[in-house]
Amino acid sequence: MKEAAYKIKSGELVAFPTETVYGLGANAYNEDAVRKIYSAKGRPSNNPLIVHIANIETAREIAHFNNESEILAKHFWPGPITFVLPIKENSKIAPSVRAGLDTIAIRMPAHKIAMELLEKSEVPIAAPSANPSGYISATLASHIRSNLPEIYVLEDPDEKNMGVNNYGLESTIVDLSDPDNVKILRYGFITPEILSNVLGRPVEYIEDMEIKAPGMLEKHYSPKSKIRLNATSLEEYEIGLGFFEYNLSEEFNLSKSGNLEEAAKNLYNMLQLIDAYPGEKTIAIAPIPNVGIGLAINDRLKRASSS
Ligand code: TXA
Ligand code: MG
Repeated sequence: MKEAAYKIKSGELVAFPTETVYGLGANAYNEDAVRKIYSAKGRPSNNPLIVHIANIETAREIAHFNNESEILAKHFWPGPITFVLPIKENSKIAPSVRAGLDTIAIRMPAHKIAMELLEKSEVPIAAPSANPSGYISATLASHIRSNLPEIYVLEDPDEKNMGVNNYGLESTIVDLSDPDNVKILRYGFITPEILSNVLGRPVEYIEDMEIKAPGMLEKHYSPKSKIRLNATSLEEYEIGLGFFEYNLSEEFNLSKSGNLEEAAKNLYNMLQLIDAYPGEKTIAIAPIPNVGIGLAINDRLKRASSS
């Protein structure tokens, strides 16, 4: 931990666990450090990053917090939700973090190691998911070692016993820059229903064609293998990824009991495992109910399968 915090302070990259997926972090105040993220991932420079913070005061220093953000922060932070807010003009955030936008994405992670890293390095940490751009996100340290071997990884010791910890899917992103028109830019564990209940009015998912979340529009979360969705049986050269009663493979079922949370947790790891099998193949994935966290799972699968 000491070494990792030192690396962040001195402008180096550190991959660290969060309650969603592993992040590839750099000091958000240091432009050179942030640029290293883009080059390590091969990420297009117009795709902004999320700033991770340890306390709400830092968030208020960086962005204009409105009433809605205060309510949601009180309710959900630390936790798997990211706010998009107008950035403060005098903020010290390095320009590359927001890639030319006048808003900034911020989140407070609910993970002991992430929090400790933030506290010990004493700066906000800009971090996208720790995967090569466009590829499946990392939910285990081993995914980073395979896919970004140069990167220093602060490993979550718990995952040795428990496998993938926590949620296994990226945070919900909510655009709060216009408080009269709060919208979801990326589905996650905090569903439209939950957000609507907390704010007392409808909050909907908007696929924003004006590139509100540029990373969302491209092919994303994709294995090298092809993907076939809503598969109920296997064809030739396919490896199955089952769900519930659609037990398409001996080895890989996202949740035999049909539990969507369990499916979210298993999704990226199982995709990475199947993708690592030699030879050309298609991953045939069973239908996933489009409710609750299923919205986020199906959203990722749709992007993963688009070409
Ligand atoms: O759970 C998560 O959110 C993980 C962990 C590491 O915190 N991070 C993550 O980061 O998923 P990334 O970079 O893979 O996805 C961030 C998304 C991108 O689609 C990006 O375009 C969008 O957030 N984004 C960042 N800043 C934005 C902004 N100012 N306005 C709209 N979208 C933004
Ligand atoms: Mg990502």
